[in-house]
Amino acid sequence: MIPIDPQARANVHLIDHPLVQHKLTLMRKKEASTNNFRRLLNELSSLMAYEVTRDMATQDVHIETPLEPMEAKMIDGKKLVFVSILRAGNGILDGVLSVVPGARVGHIGLYRDPKTLQAVEYYFKMPKNMEERDVVVVDPMLATGNSAAAAVTRLKACRPKSIKFLCLLTCPEGINTMHKLHPDVHIYTAAIDRELNDHGYILPGLGDAGDRIFGTQ
Ligand code: URA
Repeated sequence: MIPIDPQARANVHLIDHPLVQHKLTLMRKKEASTNNFRRLLNELSSLMAYEVTRDMATQDVHIETPLEPMEAKMIDGKKLVFVSILRAGNGILDGVLSVVPGARVGHIGLYRDPKTLQAVEYYFKMPKNMEERDVVVVDPMLATGNSAAAAVTRLKACRPKSIKFLCLLTCPEGINTMHKLHPDVHIYTAAIDRELNDHGYILPGLGDAGDRIFGTQ
C-alpha cells in the first residue's frame, strides 16, 4: 500500500453522498448481474454529474415568468464535452448525458504496446472548437493512471479551457500518477480504494469494469 501524496490528495473530490455510496456497494458485489451493474452505473453517473458540474459558470438572462420579468441564471459558454476513454468510459455516458443533455461527446481509444509499454492511440474524435470548451474525461476506474494521464496529455493538444477526470473508483497509484503528470487536473470519484494488485486491478475494487458493463467476462 503506497501513500497518497498530500498535494495530489488535495485535487481529489470524494463524492460521499449516501446514495452514491449505496449504489457503489451494490455494484461491487460479485453477484451483481450485468443488467443491474449497468443500471446502477447509469444512476451513479448521473448523481456524480451534479458534483462534477457544480462550478459551471452561469450568466443572468432576462426572462418573463407568467407573473413578471426577472433576471435568471443559465449555463454560460460553449457546451461541455464528456470524453469517454474506450471502452469502459462509454458506460458512464448515458448517466451524465441524462443530466447535461446538451453536452458534446468525444472518444479516445488507447492501448498499451506490450513491448514499449507506451500508450498507443487507435481512436481520437473530438467536437469542434475544443479551445472554447470545458472537458470532463470519464472512465470508471482510475487504476495505474497511465492511460488516463496519456489521454489527458493527448487532449491538452486540443487546448480545452479546463479538464476534469470523473471515475467511480481510484487508488493511491492512480491519484499520484495523475497529479505528477497533470497537477492541474482534478479527480472526482466515489471511492479511493486500498491498492493495485500485480495485474493493475484495484483492490478491493469491483473487477474489470468493461467486462461487467458489457457482459464480456
Ligand atoms: N480497470 C478495471 O476495469 N478494473 C480495475 O480494477 C482496474 C482497471
